[in-house]
Amino acid sequence: MTQQFTRRKFLQSACITISALTVNMSGIEKALAAAAGVGPLATCDILIIGSGGAGLRAAVAALQKNPKLNVVVVSKCMPSRSATCMAEGGINGVTDFSKGDSYELHCFDTVKGGDYLVDQESTLKFCEQAGPAILELDYLGMPFSRTAEGKVKARPFGGASKVRCNYSADKTGHIVAHTCLDDALSHGVKFLMDHELLDVAVDNGRCEGAVLRNIRTGEIAPVRAKAVVLATGGYTRIFWNRTSTPYIATGDGVAAALRAGIPFKDAEMVQFHPTGVVHGGVLITEAARGEGGYLLNNKGERFMKDYAPAKMELGPRDIVARAIETEIREGRGYGQGLEAYVLLDLRHLGKEKIVHDLPQIRHVGKLFENIDLVDKPMVIRPTAHYSMGGIDVNTFDDMATVVPGLFAAGEASCVSIHGANRLGGNSLADAVVTGKIAGNGAAAFASHTDFGAGKRLTDLTARWQDRFRNTTNGGDAKQMYAIREEMGAQLWDNMGIFRTQSKLDALSSTLADLRSRYDVLRVPNANPVYNTVFTEYVELGNMLQLAQAACLAASERKESRGAHTREDFPKRDDANFLKHSMVTMDDSGKMRMGWKEVEITKFKPEERKY
Ligand code: FUM
Repeated sequence: MTQQFTRRKFLQSACITISALTVNMSGIEKALAAAAGVGPLATCDILIIGSGGAGLRAAVAALQKNPKLNVVVVSKCMPSRSATCMAEGGINGVTDFSKGDSYELHCFDTVKGGDYLVDQESTLKFCEQAGPAILELDYLGMPFSRTAEGKVKARPFGGASKVRCNYSADKTGHIVAHTCLDDALSHGVKFLMDHELLDVAVDNGRCEGAVLRNIRTGEIAPVRAKAVVLATGGYTRIFWNRTSTPYIATGDGVAAALRAGIPFKDAEMVQFHPTGVVHGGVLITEAARGEGGYLLNNKGERFMKDYAPAKMELGPRDIVARAIETEIREGRGYGQGLEAYVLLDLRHLGKEKIVHDLPQIRHVGKLFENIDLVDKPMVIRPTAHYSMGGIDVNTFDDMATVVPGLFAAGEASCVSIHGANRLGGNSLADAVVTGKIAGNGAAAFASHTDFGAGKRLTDLTARWQDRFRNTTNGGDAKQMYAIREEMGAQLWDNMGIFRTQSKLDALSSTLADLRSRYDVLRVPNANPVYNTVFTEYVELGNMLQLAQAACLAASERKESRGAHTREDFPKRDDANFLKHSMVTMDDSGKMRMGWKEVEITKFKPEERKY
């Protein structure tokens, strides 16, 4: 009899439960766990939190470095629903040197695009690895769009001086994610699916592991690990319903790292993608402009001529997003308030081109606005899209944080490649490049170290178990949703594309008020099974923490740089602010500002002109 082994079965065979990680404990470990009132400690060598491109590449790299390691990926949702899937237009990397492109040029574009808040040595290394990473994906079988000669196809993208954005139609991220998932499965990576991160435990100057909650069963349990990689993505859901990122983009790893004492670097640097769908902010890829689409105001003018005359629609995202908002503010847009927009016109590209190269955004246009962009221009408005800020990483070479045993990768991390404004196409490259490096770093660390004691881990677990009991003893979820809505609206109004001190001060007191409402919040349903309201409650707590940190940093950065536009300080101020903001938090929840030097080696900061 032939046995059919489906992809679903393949995936199921990779899914484990925390109990599968439980090992016999020593006497002292048992005593510690019993004292904290928690069950036996589950254990693995490397725990990777997050199953987007970065987490999946980290897992494979770790296993390739040391196949004896027990590597587990934790995921809040199916990997195919990660933010990686939401990057559409392409992945940057030099794969064709025949037209004068080079790693140095990619590096220069990235540094300039990031308004010089970019660590240059790290960025050069990143660019040197991005091209080979694309070829590696090609080798793994990723179905890239192809040139007539069968090579990986590239298209122009914003802020780039050469054509180096390699793509699969306008579904590049989705296809990167599936390629990485297939590769992880075939390497034997194990998954804790439907598990959320509650905290990472740091004690005696090292990382001990993480506290997880099984969303299906409600079990809250510690997992001890020699090394933890945080690859949980960004935090742009703080803007709630004005973002292109998925509902899971609540910055859980960044918030957990902040609570564990690790600085949150460049928190204020949030990217607004110029072209989101007006209703809901879903992404309309930059590839639409890369392929030749126009932005038009209500006078029918290609207004980018006034903002980036040399690059027009392919200026960097901060400049294009500001231009759109300026057109709207000055009465040259359409509609009112949150429903205001300008037009993205692709009609001149023709149906065949749109169907072949931009099928997904055609679908999105029909789905969200009932517009077929073959026949009509699309209505668009900037949308929160990417967190340039994140968990401070010490060195690009291993993506280690200041805490031994704790690593970060992808959008959750900040190794200062993107500075104050990321170039389109650099996010997928960041995910696969830094994911691989973090996996290598974690494997090197885990191969020559033992487990931490686990005391903090068991304490934190007990605290979360109490918190579940105390929070779910009868409440009203509507109050929680009201806080979340208000947080998003306040952030959009006061810490959106244009910022001022008075707006940020108002935001700071609103966030403090929302925080105190959150702190006494109760949510319904003590049933632990599939208690997704509790998940939303945890996520909201994380988002409020990150929003407060971002607001503090935005308030202290009294200059305009990249995506951070202060109307009251309209100029870039290199003398005082060519430095990374570093927010830290103490046990009482009090946040403090610090600063860190920017690594300038090759390219002297100059005024950006496009
Ligand atoms: O517009 C886009 O396709 C987004 C890509 C990115 O953020 O890198």
